[in-house]
Amino acid sequence: MRIGILTGGGDCPGLNAVIRAVARRSWANGYEVIGVREGWRGMVEHLFAPLGPNEISGILPRGGTIVGTSRTNPYQVEGGVDKVRKAFEQLDALVAIGGEDTLGVASKLYAEFGLPVVGVPKTIDNDLSGTDYTFGFDTAVAICTEAIDRIHTTAESHNRVMVVEVMGRHAGWIAVHSGIAGGADVILIPERPVVLDEVEAEIRKRHGRGKNFSIVVISEGCELPGAEDKGEVDQFGHKLLAKRGVGEQLGDEIESRTGFETRVTVLGHVQRGGSPTARDRILATRFGLKAADLVQQGEFGQMAALHGDDVVSVSLEEATAKLKTVPAEWYEVARTFFG
Ligand code: F6P
Repeated sequence: MRIGILTGGGDCPGLNAVIRAVARRSWANGYEVIGVREGWRGMVEHLFAPLGPNEISGILPRGGTIVGTSRTNPYQVEGGVDKVRKAFEQLDALVAIGGEDTLGVASKLYAEFGLPVVGVPKTIDNDLSGTDYTFGFDTAVAICTEAIDRIHTTAESHNRVMVVEVMGRHAGWIAVHSGIAGGADVILIPERPVVLDEVEAEIRKRHGRGKNFSIVVISEGCELPGAEDKGEVDQFGHKLLAKRGVGEQLGDEIESRTGFETRVTVLGHVQRGGSPTARDRILATRFGLKAADLVQQGEFGQMAALHGDDVVSVSLEEATAKLKTVPAEWYEVARTFFG
């Protein structure tokens, strides 16, 4: 049996740990493992390379993905789906590691053609349904929390408002978790409209009680009232974010409304880079083993998922039906410490 592995969408700490676990368990089952290069592009263009012990050695702590990634959507490429179906003639099963876009394609291919796919949930954004957590999220939150701690010291020394823009295009999980862990004074997430009067009031309240600095954490996917929409989208239909991000826009607003000196830090791809935390390495490893087991049992159209402390399987259809956004209760935890 030949098992392909692909990684799609943004890179994410822990991808290599999944690849290693799928490969180790599959070899033990007597299967051959093939790396599909650069996400769905590799299936469209038939970019395959065998994965053996040499390729897998030493990759557990490494960030990024040894098989490369892309945001190619075969459904948007002319003849793309037929080419993907053809690629399956060389594979008996495919483990697709990705977020809602990559796994959305896997789900469709399974539903429409019964292709033998299994999914593993990956995204630093943690916005995939069907699983309590995705790997990569813990690392991103740890990086953002450390950054907020560092930014705190300069905020305090200079009496500044510091705006920290973190990733999270559709969901504010990273902002809420790192904001709580880092003691942010205001947290803004895409699930809630940004009300500038409220932001100003929270900062003024805080400064009114003797604090002369503030930390504001904002998800990149937030929109300020009146922001211009150019209507540009990527292959998965997601709106392209403005080049001058929402953090910068918010910093201008805060400074002009309050008169407090304001600085902006955009954490960007630093959040996705480098080595995964121990927690992410373990979660990714458990997901990889589960995916290999699902392949061996012929349970296609399924995704490895974390429920409580158990790794289970859920259908790809359920996992990709809608995004998992931050519920009001989580935001209330954060809001207790505003102002
Ligand atoms: O999907 C993960 C993610 O890191 C988002 O948080 C972010 O908006 C996006 O990827 C950035 O994508 P790219 O690396 O393609 O600019």
